[in-house]
Amino acid sequence: MARENGTLPNANVSLHPDSPQRTYQVVVAATRNMGIGKDGKLPWRLPSDLKFFKDVTMTTSDLARKNAVIMGRKTWESIPLEHRPLPGRLNVVLTRSGSFDIATAENVVICGSMISALELLAASPYCLSIEKVFVIGGGQVLREALNAPGCNAIHVTEIESDVDCDTFIPALDISSFQPWYSSLPSVENNIRYCFTTYVRVRNSTVEPPSLTNGPTSDSNSDVVKFDVKKFSFLPKMIFEKHEEHMYLRLVQDIISNGAYKDDRTGTGTLSKFGCQCFGEEFLKSFCGSSVVPQMLSIGLVDREEGDLGPVYGFQWRHFGARYNGMYADYTGQGFDQLLDVIEKIKNNPDDRRIILSAWNPSDLKLMALPPCHMFAQFYVAKGELSCQMYQRSADMGLGVPFNVASYALLTCMVAHVCDLVPGDFIHVIGDAHVYRTHVRPLQDQLQKLPKPFPILKINPQKKDIDSFVAADFELIGYDPHQKIEMKMAV
Ligand SMILES: NC(=O)c1ccc[n+]([C@@H]2O[C@H](COP(=O)([O-])OP(=O)(O)OC[C@H]3O[C@@H](n4cnc5c(N)ncnc54)[C@H](OP(=O)(O)O)[C@@H]3O)[C@@H](O)[C@H]2O)c1
Repeated sequence: MARENGTLPNANVSLHPDSPQRTYQVVVAATRNMGIGKDGKLPWRLPSDLKFFKDVTMTTSDLARKNAVIMGRKTWESIPLEHRPLPGRLNVVLTRSGSFDIATAENVVICGSMISALELLAASPYCLSIEKVFVIGGGQVLREALNAPGCNAIHVTEIESDVDCDTFIPALDISSFQPWYSSLPSVENNIRYCFTTYVRVRNSTVEPPSLTNGPTSDSNSDVVKFDVKKFSFLPKMIFEKHEEHMYLRLVQDIISNGAYKDDRTGTGTLSKFGCQCFGEEFLKSFCGSSVVPQMLSIGLVDREEGDLGPVYGFQWRHFGARYNGMYADYTGQGFDQLLDVIEKIKNNPDDRRIILSAWNPSDLKLMALPPCHMFAQFYVAKGELSCQMYQRSADMGLGVPFNVASYALLTCMVAHVCDLVPGDFIHVIGDAHVYRTHVRPLQDQLQKLPKPFPILKINPQKKDIDSFVAADFELIGYDPHQKIEMKMAV
């Protein structure tokens, strides 16, 4: 055991104002109203959470180094004797009391303030031997440390069940932090919980810039840049959970292992069959690209350019109606699948036939291109709306990011008008392909590290699916990488 400088009462000021301080990450389990403890103990028994805590705080990328955990004196005392000091980590205990002593020798230091602890860890020998610093509670310590500038990530086990607590922490400052990843909920000992990591994207608490009317263009993207650029400081097990990695891994797999095929456009593809991407975060980055629908030369010569025939929107709202061109009034004609989906979600949410189909075989010959994303099934459980979409043919470079974003948005919109929370988006792909001409730009994209997804806000006044206008959507914290050019294969 070592007692470090700054253990004097009220020593919460730097002894050396110019000394560097370590940044840190917080690990905590909290209820919805930010309860973390009861009667000096944890108010729940969640072995999976203890394992998560151990994995996050103990793992290092450099096996010669270890991590430090900073905790308040009461949290130290709440750890069962046989488990403290927490093994494999440097235990830093905060106390203002000169009389507090710890009868253990190794792996424990005592500090009189958070600042002195962070200065100590930034100085030799700890600056070299300690890889990451985690602040692990309890309430008093986190009231000071949770949203403070030195905190660059918060790993919170979100306890969704009601649990009685007497120790609380402040709410997260959402103007500075954005979600990085959130696990699916689990239930253990009747407690429902999930793991979520938030990362700091801004150093100040100034209101984050937001976007209305859709994604940013190059000209205004400067105004939404994050202050914080890199997130690779996160523990690897968390960094790699960002959902964009699912997309990037599939692209990499197709480029490395896909079968070479000729295709309709004559471009040539590398392709794989039967892929499933699964996501619970909805908004994916748009990769800075735009998709322009193209009229194809398949004999529809009398059609005006831009008239694609009875494609997606027509089938969703007027399935079965006779197609008379893009200017005709189809009011009341055919079957309105979208309204039917909404009606079922509201009035018969357990229905197993909540389906939106763009695949109408008798109309295929009238379409410029038969639907690629052709079939979506909606599913309601625990107040959440999920959507599984089947896509027969998927252009991984240009199409898929756009398709994911648009179905995610559709699911959010339908959930919004049905007073549900968006759940999961499951994307099932038949032929997933990379055009030969996209291999190089996608290799560039594979070098770019993911950033937190933006947050979508929908105008709460709008509850009718037909009433939305672009200004009803606000995208908060959208900070894309630079645009990567890819040519559309037509
Ligand atoms: N859910 C979770 O993830 C989680 C995590 C940790 C703890 N907990 C729970 O939280 C409860 C304990 O929290 P708590 O708020 O009562 O106590 P705490 O924050 O663990 O410890 C408070 C004590 O730490 C010292 N301290 C705090 N801030 C300090 C500072 N800036 N400088 C120097 N010393 C400082 C003081 O010790 P002295 O009085 O000795 O000066 C203070 O009395 C328990 O129920 C525990 O089980 C929950």
